[in-house]
Amino acid sequence: MTKVLFVCLGNICRSPLAEALFLKHAAEADVLSHFEVDSAGTSGLHSGESADPRTRRNASAHGIQIPHKSRQFMVSDFDRFDIIYTMDRSNMANVLSLARNETDKNKVRMLLDDCPGHFGQEVPDPWFGGEEGFEQVFNLLDLAAFAVCEKLQKKP
Ligand code: 4NP
Repeated sequence: MTKVLFVCLGNICRSPLAEALFLKHAAEADVLSHFEVDSAGTSGLHSGESADPRTRRNASAHGIQIPHKSRQFMVSDFDRFDIIYTMDRSNMANVLSLARNETDKNKVRMLLDDCPGHFGQEVPDPWFGGEEGFEQVFNLLDLAAFAVCEKLQKKP
């Protein structure tokens, strides 16, 4: 069992979608039982809220439902998860600032560093932009979720 956490800022746009797309790809590869998956936000600003209506509308148009309710990242997530994928450098710095030791730090990675062709890139925050930003983020996260689902299946 590999436990994977996706992290963004608000946990209402990028990370809940990454979680839903990872679950879709794991189901399609018939490896759902190999994984525990969740998402969280570094900010608690939207805790308890459903995913952003724009994210849900866009995902729904692609046949994806997002049942997740926002929650804030907490230090105990370092104990609960094997790998913590952050969407951008700011999320990464915020998560790393809570790490207690090297073991915690070694669990944190930029999501797109594990997505071939996108190394070093960030998943852009669609919050302030228009609908096309949500479509762009959907396509990027779909690629990334497929890539990390494949990669983590090969993990010894
Ligand atoms: P997320 O997007 O980090 O992908 O969930 C955002 C959601 C809310 C805010 C910013 C980004 N906000 O400023 O409230």
